[in-house]
Amino acid sequence: MKYPVQIGVGCADITDLEKKYVNEVLDSGRLSYGKFSQAFEGKFAAAHDRKFAVLSNSGTSSLQVALAAMKEKWNWSDGDEVIVPALTFIATSNIVLQNNMKVVFVDIDPITYNIDPLKIEAVITAKTRAIIPVHLFGLPCDMDAILEIAKKHNLKILEDSCETMLVSAQGHKVGSRGDIACFSTYMAHLIVTGVGGLSLTNDDELAIMMKSYLNHGRDSIYLKIDDDKNTNSSESLFQIVDRRFSFIRMGYSYRVTEMEAALGLAQIERKDEVIETRKKNAAKMTDGLNELEKYLQLPSTPDGYEHAFMMYPIVLKNAAARDPLIIFLEERNIETRYMVPLINQPYYLDLFGDLAAQFPNADYVNKHGFYIGCHKGIGEAEINFIIETFKEYFSKNA
Ligand SMILES: Cc1ncc(COP(=O)(O)O)c(C=O)c1O
Repeated sequence: MKYPVQIGVGCADITDLEKKYVNEVLDSGRLSYGKFSQAFEGKFAAAHDRKFAVLSNSGTSSLQVALAAMKEKWNWSDGDEVIVPALTFIATSNIVLQNNMKVVFVDIDPITYNIDPLKIEAVITAKTRAIIPVHLFGLPCDMDAILEIAKKHNLKILEDSCETMLVSAQGHKVGSRGDIACFSTYMAHLIVTGVGGLSLTNDDELAIMMKSYLNHGRDSIYLKIDDDKNTNSSESLFQIVDRRFSFIRMGYSYRVTEMEAALGLAQIERKDEVIETRKKNAAKMTDGLNELEKYLQLPSTPDGYEHAFMMYPIVLKNAAARDPLIIFLEERNIETRYMVPLINQPYYLDLFGDLAAQFPNADYVNKHGFYIGCHKGIGEAEINFIIETFKEYFSKNA
């Protein structure tokens, strides 16, 4: 039986609050950086125990300008090395290449799917500058271990938290422990604004540099159109007017509009509901699918961690069963995605050659894993249908 509507991997949960805020933007006539962007940044930073948030047009843009700012601040050179997990969305490592730095992969833990801290030290060289831990699928990395290694080897940390927000682990909010942490609000993420990204930091110098990088490399004296309104002397007004068209580094055009910020603000204001629904959905799915543990590795949450369940990852014990099961689910209107394959992608095979044997856990997930949705649009009926569909498949294909 096919489900009457698609059970997708993501959903845009638009309530009256989002509509109210977007209409306020439209009525105001102000589409560029203004009070909604400022409020969204402020609340998002506070929700993650950070001082500054910088809004951009994507998680990738945020990561790219974050690494550019770190490279500039600490005088890193082209070709210096950045450690990245061998399983992540391709943007994590692309932004390293885009910053003319060298990607050094580290294998993942086969249970959490996050970077394995025990494998990091072996790849550190005199040229290593930073680690990018990626909090994949909604589960934070083991930051205690990663921070200890970073401290020992004097490395900086850029957290890729594009798939995880608002949850805590090891007593800290996700994204609150590195030098910068970046988030995505793209479709199917936890807070959805269509396109969008945020980078959080406690370092005001990095925050200003990131703002400049995503605003054409502009002088930080004039980063938004109100900056000339907050002055009380003609001398300082002249400073601003004079430097309004002053570009002090090569930057990008990665700004976002007030409409994305309005959508984000409405969702951060009901943040608990966003995460709690996902946790409940995941618990029900795990409950129902547990009896298939002979065939499936279901997501687990280590003690002391919270999982935001941006999606519900499943790893099959038998690789040969993965694609037939995916087709069985898709034919019944249950949408699936591979678990962010990276090292086997055509472009990466061209760049790095075949890395599968060097990163067996990432390779295993590439061949055995996929995910389904876990969001608010999936209710009791959809969860039951998903569970029954899995059971039906394995009753016929044991
Ligand atoms: C781990 C990870 N990093 C980076 C990104 C890039 O975010 P965006 O699509 O907003 O550019 C994504 C997006 O899916 C992601 O999953």
